Amino acid sequence: MANQSFAKNVMKKTTLGVIVGVLLVVGAKFTHFPYVFQVMFFIYAMLGALVFILLDAPAMKRLEGVKAVGALVVFYLLLSGLYIAGASILPQFDPEDEKGKIEKILKPRRAQTEQGKADELIARAKELDERAQALSKQLASLGAEAQVEVVEQPSSAGAGAATGDVIALGKEQWELQECYNCHKLFGQGGKKRGPELDNIGNLMTVDQLREKILNPKSWKAEGFDKDYDKGKMPDKYKDLMFPKEIDALVAFLSSLKDASVKTPKPIKMN
Ligand code: HEC
Repeated sequence: MANQSFAKNVMKKTTLGVIVGVLLVVGAKFTHFPYVFQVMFFIYAMLGALVFILLDAPAMKRLEGVKAVGALVVFYLLLSGLYIAGASILPQFDPEDEKGKIEKILKPRRAQTEQGKADELIARAKELDERAQALSKQLASLGAEAQVEVVEQPSSAGAGAATGDVIALGKEQWELQECYNCHKLFGQGGKKRGPELDNIGNLMTVDQLREKILNPKSWKAEGFDKDYDKGKMPDKYKDLMFPKEIDALVAFLSSLKDASVKTPKPIKMN
């Protein structure tokens, strides 16, 4: 008799737990909680149901002495095993990996500190000195009234060879700035918050891409009106990134020309 009503009770509480769990998952999905959280919310609801079931469970026979200690140890072993098994199912974050990412972001910023600035000034002074020497040599060889030709900047030389490196740096910026949180690329990331960008190189020029990153309100992806109005794309990259980093990111983006992916049309806003 007592057993039967307990079984009924278990059914009722489990059903309630599942209903609450589903409601939580729907709510979490609706508010864009990551998938892991949705699963966790469901598990919490089921744990809640379990607590209520235990509250109504028929009392156990009283354990005493060695038996009680044994039962306690078994209980702890079971619980620890469950926690370890559960934790190993969840996605693992490698702290070294995260540290590496942070280090990559900080490195160029550190170069801006006093030591970095001093080095930069020394390098620039050296460069100027070399230019001055080249100019005076030219002057000497041309005579006093001859016009001085401007020495070409060394930066424009070898630009072609460096393109591949720049794109690799840009891809790194894509990872470091975590654009993948909202944009799917190469079939990865996104979570459907922003447009897939695999074909953006065919739709926007380098200058337009730069404009979009510096001021997300300058362009709107067709069909993303709601997200555009809400300002989903963060307006922070102009503060977070150095111009060089933005250049690299833009070079990377403009190399994305996979026409089989439907990247939405960019529309120029004011
Ligand atoms: C928090 C989400 C979010 C992040 C992070 C984000 N974006 Fe966006 N992005 C969006 C949304 C939403 C849109 C579509 C609405 C719009 O155009 O503003 C968009 C639009 C774009 C577009 C225009 C696409 C088109 O087809 O018109 C480009 C280019 C772009 N983002 C690049 C980037 C880059 C590069 C980064 C990283 C530096 C980035 N986004 C980070 C949400 C995001």
